Amino acid sequence: MTTADTAHPYDEAPPEVPQVEVTLHVNGTSHRLRLDARVTLLDALRDHLALTGAKKGCDQGACGACTVLVDGKRVVSCLMLAAQCEDREVTTVESLSEAGAPHPVQAAFARHDAFQCGYCTPGQIMSAVSLLAEGRADSDEDIREFMSGNICRCGAYPNICAAIREVAAGG
Ligand code: FES
Ligand code: FES
Repeated sequence: MTTADTAHPYDEAPPEVPQVEVTLHVNGTSHRLRLDARVTLLDALRDHLALTGAKKGCDQGACGACTVLVDGKRVVSCLMLAAQCEDREVTTVESLSEAGAPHPVQAAFARHDAFQCGYCTPGQIMSAVSLLAEGRADSDEDIREFMSGNICRCGAYPNICAAIREVAAGG
């Protein structure tokens, strides 16, 4: 028997993972990071910058728990590479409150009891903030349609909708 016969594929040295240098501007602060090129924006935020507001639900773009804003537009950060965010403005739920006062959307969620376990809530709130900025919260139908990328396993949808409707109406 030769060495070639006994070699196992897992005995080979793993291929070298490319590293990238990336500057992320997050909530007004710049961070220079050296990352595995495959690291997602979500993992960069959570594991490298200790910003754990954005949650990992499905990790495949289906639940919206990881929603953050990039250049003011909502994205599912589990489907975006950190390297794609070089010199772009990233906004996470941690930036919403000011001087300890909750953002109006956060306050409305609390008033309307728009969560149960809370796991989806940061993503729901970031999506709602963006939806309101886009001027697309004119009706319950619109709110449901434009929030449809954010799944709530606890089924808090009626209260989420009521909270967004209240803020849209100036409440
Ligand atoms: Fe990103 Fe579910 S964790 S969409
Ligand atoms: Fe539990 Fe939405 S509050 S998943």
